Amino acid sequence: KLRIAVFASGSGSNFQAIADQAASGQLDVQVELLVCDRPGAYVIERAEKAGVPAFVFSPKDYGSREDYERVLLDKLRERQIDLVVLAGYMRLLTPVLVEPYYGRMINIHPSLLPAFPGTHGARDALEYGVKVTGVTVHFVDLGMDTGPIIAQEPVPIQEGDTEDTLIERIHQVERELYPRVIGWMQQGRVQLKDRKVAVLAE
Ligand code: GAR
Repeated sequence: KLRIAVFASGSGSNFQAIADQAASGQLDVQVELLVCDRPGAYVIERAEKAGVPAFVFSPKDYGSREDYERVLLDKLRERQIDLVVLAGYMRLLTPVLVEPYYGRMINIHPSLLPAFPGTHGARDALEYGVKVTGVTVHFVDLGMDTGPIIAQEPVPIQEGDTEDTLIERIHQVERELYPRVIGWMQQGRVQLKDRKVAVLAE
């Protein structure tokens, strides 16, 4: 089984979808660890209910990003994590984590990247007035929501959509797409060419 760690900062609906599929056996992975940078985030309760150990920390307790990332790297190594899954983890990463896990760390983002990166992907697409937005899963590099794209799914914007209704439809797509991509990773089907372009093997 692929040993995964999920990083999350918020509600954790993606964490839940992954944990559910791991528990039911639909996904042949073991969710070994939740890493959360916001004490009190709802995802921590979800981890408890799912029986997944959580490491919760406050970035302000550390002198720098590198300082806490070194602690996180130790946790990942202790648990022999094969794949790091960012699911609403709202922080940029430094080379301390990105280098050792390059090609083994993925992120999900609520837009069709490279359009609308950042913390409000859905809202920004709605405000811009695009008619189709969507969801992207990509390998993590040092940028914000950059890195080789593995999969994308469109989500049409409907007449009368608000930020809430759009986010709800995006979440529905995320709940299916992220476990599917993790399954591909588990099967070794996602290859990275020249550290640049991700290709899905049959
Ligand atoms: C998800 O929609 C994810 O795409 C987004 O945060 C949400 C977390 O929801 N991530 C980003 O915006 C990354 N830039 P969740 O906590 O319910 O899984």
